[in-house]
Amino acid sequence: MTLYGVGLGPGDAGLITIKGRETLESADVVYTPGRLSRSVATEYVDDEQLGDLDFPMTRDEDELRDAWKAAAAEIAPTAADGTAAFVTLGDPNVYSTFGHLRRTLDRFHPAVDVEVVPGVSTVTAFATAFDVEITAGSELVLREAARGAAPVGPDRLVLFKVTDVPTTHEKLREAGYDVTYGRRLFMNGHETIVTDDPSRLEERDYYTVAYAEKPGVGEAPATAAFGAETEADDD
Ligand SMILES: C[S@@+](CC[C@H](N)C(=O)[O-])C[C@H]1O[C@@H](n2cnc3c(N)ncnc32)[C@H](O)[C@@H]1O
Repeated sequence: MTLYGVGLGPGDAGLITIKGRETLESADVVYTPGRLSRSVATEYVDDEQLGDLDFPMTRDEDELRDAWKAAAAEIAPTAADGTAAFVTLGDPNVYSTFGHLRRTLDRFHPAVDVEVVPGVSTVTAFATAFDVEITAGSELVLREAARGAAPVGPDRLVLFKVTDVPTTHEKLREAGYDVTYGRRLFMNGHETIVTDDPSRLEERDYYTVAYAEKPGVGEAPATAAFGAETEADDD
């Protein structure tokens, strides 16, 4: 009796792990918390395998607890008779709804085993999309920047939930950061935008990540400076 939390990666169905794909293919029921995660999961599972869960759009903590209790009560019998999977975009243990489900199952259905299949998180995928190298020895901090917030302090920040890019941008620039934004990175069938121009991102889109860096931070790695020698010098 196992519930697998499966990370789908950022949205490109090709970026799920082999283990994640195999887990979905063999699950009796696959639960999806949203339309985007469902559209990725359906690349690997048949419609009949999909389970239905209802999640209210609310910040009310009582309503949320009730919704997760109902979700856990729906999932527990499936996991008791076989295997169930719950998918999330990115990684299930990074800023994810999966934590609510795991805690609720632990509390009300402790006989259900929970296993996690990690996924490619935006925390790392942004670096490839922005062509940024986080060199060994760097410090990188993950924060939220919803509704125009701009957490500042560390030299390098990854910011999730950047829902008001122009306001966040102004604050980050004032604090001395260079900032790059990515919208819908690695999402098949969606327009992906990577830019440092906030005027291109005035429209709100929850799937927006930012990378902020103070100019000139960090030491250059040894291989950044070879001097004047050329390939021919090696012969
Ligand atoms: C609730 S968190 C989920 C993070 C996810 N579990 C992960 O590991 O990537 C949602 C935030 O992740 C970021 N995000 C997730 N997928 C993204 C994508 N494909 N492109 C850009 N940002 C993304 C956005 O900042 C979004 O507001």
